[in-house]
Amino acid sequence: MPRIDAVALPDYLVDDQLRGRIAVVIDVLRATTTIVEALGHGARCVVPVASVDGARVMAHDRDGALLCGERGGVKPEGFSLGNSPLEYTGDVVGGLDCVLTTTNGTRALHLATQADEVLAGAITNVDAVCDWIRADGRDVVLVCSGTDGRVSFEDCLGAGLIVDRLGFVASDSAAMMFHAMEGAIERFGGLRYAVESSFHAKRLIELGFEDDVAFACQIGTSSVVPMFDSGVGEILAD
Ligand code: MLT
Repeated sequence: MPRIDAVALPDYLVDDQLRGRIAVVIDVLRATTTIVEALGHGARCVVPVASVDGARVMAHDRDGALLCGERGGVKPEGFSLGNSPLEYTGDVVGGLDCVLTTTNGTRALHLATQADEVLAGAITNVDAVCDWIRADGRDVVLVCSGTDGRVSFEDCLGAGLIVDRLGFVASDSAAMMFHAMEGAIERFGGLRYAVESSFHAKRLIELGFEDDVAFACQIGTSSVVPMFDSGVGEILAD
């Protein structure tokens, strides 16, 4: 039986923890949910970039690329799109490269590249990600992105869903995320209410992004499995 491990922040990864394994990077609010939507609506690829300046240069160098992302939750000046999954419709992103920089999610993707494969996981594609991992058979590490260096409850909830569905042999931290998810769903009366109780959800709701929070809580609505090829620097739909 394969094993499943988890870290609540990419900074908690230790030497070789990812080597020979599949990493699933999770940023429920909102980077990985947005990546799933962009690819699901026909973007050719998503190019994750850690910094705003780096993203400007990358978008400039790629013909017709869209410059996308956020800082402090909002679209930086001169960007085409923010980090709201609802913006990434087919008529906007179809056939295009989306150069994306976000505060935590794109950083976490780059910190996970020691893994054999790097997948982007969200609540919306949880079933597709689990099907992919089951078919692959290698051990898995869930890498929660967090928020500004702090653990994010919503990422741990997303990780807990994956632990639950896979039923692999769980490390203590993976088991902890499963139990937190199970307990929170019971305590709050549903996954969406648990997600809405998180610090980052409250901040997004204050900024007017309550629809994004609701959207990100839909379980298994997308069949897209985004795969990050760090050599090429692109995330493509599997
Ligand atoms: C991030 O990467 O920090 C998030 O996706 C922030 C956001 O909600 O836009």
